[in-house]
Amino acid sequence: MTNVLILGAAGHIARHAEADLLKNSQAHLTYFLRNAGRLTITDASRETRIEGDVTDANALSAAMAGIDIVYANLSGRNIEQLAQDVVTAMDHNQVKRLIWISTLGIYDEVPGAYGRWNHQMLDGGYLETYGAAATVIENSDLDYTIIRPAWLTNHDEVDYETTQKGEAFKGTEVSRKSIGALVSHLVTHPDKAVRGSLGVNKPNTDGPKPAWY
Ligand SMILES: NC(=O)c1ccc[n+]([C@@H]2O[C@H](COP(=O)([O-])OP(=O)(O)OC[C@H]3O[C@@H](n4cnc5c(N)ncnc54)[C@H](OP(=O)(O)O)[C@@H]3O)[C@@H](O)[C@H]2O)c1
Repeated sequence: MTNVLILGAAGHIARHAEADLLKNSQAHLTYFLRNAGRLTITDASRETRIEGDVTDANALSAAMAGIDIVYANLSGRNIEQLAQDVVTAMDHNQVKRLIWISTLGIYDEVPGAYGRWNHQMLDGGYLETYGAAATVIENSDLDYTIIRPAWLTNHDEVDYETTQKGEAFKGTEVSRKSIGALVSHLVTHPDKAVRGSLGVNKPNTDGPKPAWY
């Protein structure tokens, strides 16, 4: 049985990934989050809940014991430091496989008018820090997969395609449910996209900005 540690387990994408994993895998899920009471355990044989903050090195390291795969669904202005904290704890516990949620645009890979709009919206702190966090991950010797979602929707659909690092980003949007499904797929196929960085979008959503803007 695969043991998965989910950091930021009450996050929006994380909740989709957890539902997908409970339904479509045999994995044991350890939820690591602040205010742990927000998450309800539905199957005590497969789910463990730990209250903790990723910046608490001792708590994070303790949570890694016996873990096969770390899925980090984190956010915040300190995302670069969070990346470093995760890498350090994984190295210390000899855990190799990491799935890391990032964002589109960190390599300046979004072409054309949408790329310019994305810069306008996300420059000034966000893109830079998310890029720096991805660099921390890529400079580690972990078996990572970085996921770069397009602008997120809450549509109840799984419909996505991916691009590789070095390719132009496609499309403008993708559902959180799709990203959760991709995370679940990578957990159940851990040999896929190792040391890869995937852009993820809903097909046929090209345009100068997401449809709702
Ligand atoms: N919005 C978009 O269109 C878009 C597009 C591409 C990528 N993204 C990025 O995708 C990522 C995931 O998205 P999402 O919708 O799932 O975000 P989310 O709901 O905000 O989830 C992020 C989680 O990170 C947790 N977190 C932050 N710092 C933490 C810490 N020190 N210790 C423990 N937990 C911590 C937060 O916990 P608390 O609940 O306790 O605060 C939150 O639950 C985010 O980084 C987001 O910026 C967003």
